[in-house]
Amino acid sequence: MTPKSIAVINFKGGVGKTTVTWSLGNIISQATDLEVLMLDLDPQMSLTEAIGLNESTGHLDDKFGKWYEKSIKHRLTIYDALEVFKKAGENFKFPVGFETIYQIDEQLHFIPSVEELYWLDLDGFEGKSVKDFIRRFIGKITNSVNLPKYELFLFDCSPSFSLLTYSVLSCCDLILIPVNPDYFGTRGLSLVLNSLQKRIEPYPFPKIAVFMNKAKIYGGLLTNEVQFYMREVKRLCEELSKENNIEIKFLESTIRESVGLKRAINEGELPKELVREFEKLWRECAEYLK
Ligand SMILES: Nc1ncnc2c1ncn2[C@@H]1O[C@H](COP(=O)(O)OP(=O)(O)OP(=O)(O)O)[C@@H](O)[C@H]1O
Ligand SMILES: [Mg+2]
Repeated sequence: MTPKSIAVINFKGGVGKTTVTWSLGNIISQATDLEVLMLDLDPQMSLTEAIGLNESTGHLDDKFGKWYEKSIKHRLTIYDALEVFKKAGENFKFPVGFETIYQIDEQLHFIPSVEELYWLDLDGFEGKSVKDFIRRFIGKITNSVNLPKYELFLFDCSPSFSLLTYSVLSCCDLILIPVNPDYFGTRGLSLVLNSLQKRIEPYPFPKIAVFMNKAKIYGGLLTNEVQFYMREVKRLCEELSKENNIEIKFLESTIRESVGLKRAINEGELPKELVREFEKLWRECAEYLK
């Protein structure tokens, strides 16, 4: 398949963007033959910590820690790439390889976040100069003869409209928006959809998919409250699709609220029922992306 990219976005914090990125990356790389590259574009570094942090010591684990130190020392992080891009523009040259990309597993690779991304918006990077960055950076990775032919790029984005999110919008195929079953979750959805509508042009508009995360289950069924918010969110998606003439799909897949999910991610393994739910979510996204 031609490479596809999915950006997990919501400007509301804590809805599960990082959890969903991590889970999809792991499940797709295990259940399919796709080569997956995950990117942490959030300076909060939650995904980077989920992958690199040793829970019991509270420090980066040895293998990741050493690799990360080297990547920073040799100025080969995503932030370094961005600095080079900003100066070079059209002549952007950056040696993408395994000092920028960390190999988690055979089919699952990762570009971590770095603290400097925090200051990106204050560092004199202008929207215009950063806008093409992710597209050009991914282009370099796709064209590199030294790297695998990644078929899926997964971006974990920060809960604010940062320059990097802006840059991702101009090159992704699907914007995947997790929402939670509560009042603020539905309010947040209108905000994010309206601002996306204003910002994405003039590039081809990516497809947008919305789904429910942290869905409460009782007796094997979604609770009435969750079903109510599902109807609300679906209605909102239809309304905004019509108003703005864009394609927004409300997915049928839901991801249940699972108390052990955080621990499961730290330990690197999801419970069976969540594996099934994330596989279903992926199948629905893949179908929509066709
Ligand atoms: N399905 C779920 N069931 C239970 N807890 C969940 C679920 N999804 C996410 N969480 C928990 O919710 C919290 C926030 O999740 P996560 O960090 O993935 O959200 P986020 O949208 O990336 O947050 P931020 O906006 O800060 O980047 C975490 O403690 C996570 O373990
Ligand atoms: Mg996050």
